[in-house]
Amino acid sequence: MRQSSLVVVANRLPIDDSVAPDGACEWRRSPGGLVSALHPLLRQTPATWVGWAGGTGPAPSLADVDGVRMHTVPLTAEDVRDHYEGFANATLWPLYHDAVEQPVYHRRWWEAYQRVNRRFAEAAADAAEPGAVVWVQDYHLQLVPGLLRELRPDLRIGFFLHVPFPPPELFMQLPRRAELLRGMLGADLIGFQRAQAAHNFAQLVAHVLDVPADDRRIALDGREVRIGAFPVSIDTTEMAALATRPDVVARAARLRRDLGDPTHVILSVDRMDYTKGIEQRLKAYSELIADGHVKVRDTVLVQVAVPSRERVAQYQVLRDRVEREVGRINGEFGRVGEPAIHYLTQPFDRAELAALYRMADIMAVTPLRDGMNLVAKEYVAARVDDTGALLLSEFAGSAAELPEAFLVNPHDLDGLKLTLMDALQADPADLTGRMRAMRAHLSRHDIHAWARSYLAALDSSGSLLTRVT
Ligand code: UDP
Ligand code: G6P
Repeated sequence: MRQSSLVVVANRLPIDDSVAPDGACEWRRSPGGLVSALHPLLRQTPATWVGWAGGTGPAPSLADVDGVRMHTVPLTAEDVRDHYEGFANATLWPLYHDAVEQPVYHRRWWEAYQRVNRRFAEAAADAAEPGAVVWVQDYHLQLVPGLLRELRPDLRIGFFLHVPFPPPELFMQLPRRAELLRGMLGADLIGFQRAQAAHNFAQLVAHVLDVPADDRRIALDGREVRIGAFPVSIDTTEMAALATRPDVVARAARLRRDLGDPTHVILSVDRMDYTKGIEQRLKAYSELIADGHVKVRDTVLVQVAVPSRERVAQYQVLRDRVEREVGRINGEFGRVGEPAIHYLTQPFDRAELAALYRMADIMAVTPLRDGMNLVAKEYVAARVDDTGALLLSEFAGSAAELPEAFLVNPHDLDGLKLTLMDALQADPADLTGRMRAMRAHLSRHDIHAWARSYLAALDSSGSLLTRVT
């Protein structure tokens, strides 16, 4: 097997084995922010990406994607059920997102989590050349740094958590909390989205493992583990270039015409996830219509909600509730040819998303909790003429970086309605000032700056930097 000097390990590969509407198997870009962030970064880098291809059974052998070697880790149907759908997405995901849905604990899921993490660690050990850098991603693989260090002490190991790391009182619920912390501590550098997350982690390590820890470093087994905040970002230049492409500009104008040329288009783009605040947003919008503040003919909502983790019970319940509510609102307030909500569940490619971003006057990003939320940053990057308003939840990681957005507490329905009205009625000069400031921030803090700062911290000698950026 060919080995690489840089290995990224993530539950998902950047391409996903999906079933096309005609039943045939097709490969398409994987969903979610992790892939959006890492894919442009690694393009044409001689790296290996270790991950799952989305199906069950033997690992398919995949061609390189944009010059990056794909190393597939096979998962059985039982692994998918107990590791991906179970421990990762029914235990850790809700717990790490403020337990907005009740986390579920099963001993069998923990066994699968250990088993699958070991398989990923072994795959990474095979793919890494001597002294390589291995960069492990996200909550599915928290045991991999520790397992990998046992297998390959020669490696430089990084870990980055894309989702929030919860406050101690929530994390303490986990039956296997000490093992999870120890697993992460196998890394040389642990990156979080926010300084608060690094602080939560340090507090937990000190309390649960009785190890000296502050918000920057932890001394363990004669090693030093560094921790810190590295807010992930997007390829700002690429999104701006996409948004100015003539076909995308034309597509945006066409979309707007298809919507009946309303005065205002509000857009939301989410995975169908209970952390995204979709129901609260729909409620706010429908109350504004019912109160007479918003007229459906003038103001439409386009809600993209791409189905996600569809076999996990909480996601099925959410989709049913959202679709019932969209039906109710359209039934009550829509007219023939004029629905109040344009509800779309198919995934959009980058160009189509750029056209949607260009077309929308207001981007409503109102998660109850989100590690970062790249959609918010993509919208800003696409507004090359400094128009448009971003309505942004205080509980998204991106809010710390984009204070010029219209910030909202999505739990506060009246506040949400008022702030949405403020954005709808804002003075264009005010919007331009806000958008310009946000775009200036993102032009400096893009995905390449993120990778540079993380890799510089991982490798004090600096030799790694040339491998990615
Ligand atoms: N996305 C996409 N097509 C869609 C919907 C979303 O490519 O139809 C992308 C979107 O552009 C963004 C990512 O999926 O890059 C979502 O990342 P975010 O951080 O907003 O949320 P996550 O899904 O990771 O929780
Ligand atoms: C979030 C997570 C990623 C995950 C993505 C899509 O961004 O942080 O690790 O890949 O959601 O979720 P999925 O379950 O489809 O991989």
